[in-house]
Amino acid sequence: MNFVSWAVLASSSFNILDYGAAGNGETDDTEAFVKAWKDVCEATDGIPTLQVPVAKIYLLNPITFQGPCKSEQVNFELKGTLMAPSKDAWPSDNDKWIQFVDIDGLTINGGGKMNGQGSLWWKGCEEHCDHPTALFFHNCNGLHLQNTKHIDSAKNHISINFCDDVIVSDIHVNAPEDSPNTDGIDISRSTNVMIQNSFMLTGDDCIAINNGSSYITIKGVTCGPGHGISVGSLGEDGQFNSVENIYVSDSLLKGTQNGVRIKTWESGYGYARNITFEKITFEDVKNPIIIDQYYTSFASTRENKETGIKVSDVTYREVNGTSAGENVITFKCSEASCTNIILDHVDIQMSHPDDEPKVFCQNVIGKSKSVIPIVPCLSEF
Ligand SMILES: *[C@@H]1O[C@H](CO)[C@@H](O)[C@H](O)[C@H]1NC(C)=O
Ligand SMILES: *[C@@H]1O[C@H](CO)[C@@H](O)[C@H](O)[C@H]1NC(C)=O
Ligand SMILES: *[C@@H]1O[C@H](CO)[C@@H](O)[C@H](O)[C@H]1NC(C)=O
Repeated sequence: MNFVSWAVLASSSFNILDYGAAGNGETDDTEAFVKAWKDVCEATDGIPTLQVPVAKIYLLNPITFQGPCKSEQVNFELKGTLMAPSKDAWPSDNDKWIQFVDIDGLTINGGGKMNGQGSLWWKGCEEHCDHPTALFFHNCNGLHLQNTKHIDSAKNHISINFCDDVIVSDIHVNAPEDSPNTDGIDISRSTNVMIQNSFMLTGDDCIAINNGSSYITIKGVTCGPGHGISVGSLGEDGQFNSVENIYVSDSLLKGTQNGVRIKTWESGYGYARNITFEKITFEDVKNPIIIDQYYTSFASTRENKETGIKVSDVTYREVNGTSAGENVITFKCSEASCTNIILDHVDIQMSHPDDEPKVFCQNVIGKSKSVIPIVPCLSEF
């Protein structure tokens, strides 16, 4: 390494240990992160990099890494473990643990971990409990989240909001099957998001694609346990919601409660359209293919039949595997209707050979070709 490149490196690297972090898992290291981030965000040489060294555990209280930063790119090189305070020590009025806000060109990588210490939060919570999200991105364009591990969030692990041009790859999310609301990745109001080569073992949705999202690609993801890959829920409380241009491929769902699901509330309005699931494999999945326009698990619905979220142009192509439940294919559409639903080369067998496969159709229009089990409500093409 010559002197010039060494100088660049030196001037653009900020080691959290130089800011007084103890990294012993007991001392509160929040202040060190606040100070180091300020320097990273104000630096202009090279790619300013916050280094979080390996083999240490950094106890971190709820924190916001705020932008915009001066450099076009910034790097959070996480090699060690960030650990959330336990529920007993959680400062009130914080519904998120680690936030990155208004930062363009942010890369988080390094093979390190974020541990949300969720177990105390989960106790006594059935669902929809008021718990903190572990990692929250807002307005971060050009975001890369790569090669990180996310464990035991109190609620959802990763939330991507209002971001454009995002790549998430080679991440592991891991929470117990019975942990409530521990979604892997939630996406809202974001565009051009690619999630690839990742593993998500959770107690809730593997990935949920929510309102205002378009051009979302999911490729090479393994989910399970958990609730599978979801579009929605959309249209809660009569809202306008829209999702479009979604492509999910080359992914495996293992032992999940649902496979690929589109869920909408009766009360909302808007649309979910141009959604393709291709080369998906199910292994012992309970409800492999499901569109549910009556998703109302807790609050009451406003019975407004003129509205509804229209679901259209949904394709399932080269989808196969096994179903652990009888409801193999479910199209439970309301009067808002599901149109141009295409099943093309679908082969789902029963995990338990004694089970009878069930197909449910309501208010659905579409076509099918080479589909097991047979879906009589769709015309062949
Ligand atoms: C849903 O997303 C769209 C597009 O981003 C936005 O205009 C709308 O306000 C959002 N709806 C809600 C209820 O947040
Ligand atoms: C459907 O979505 C895909 C991305 O998944 C996009 O490439 C394609 O152009 C979209 N089609 C239409 C008609 O918008
Ligand atoms: C399912 O499809 C994939 C390719 O999409 C193929 O490799 C695999 O063998 C198929 N599995 C079954 C059980 O048909």
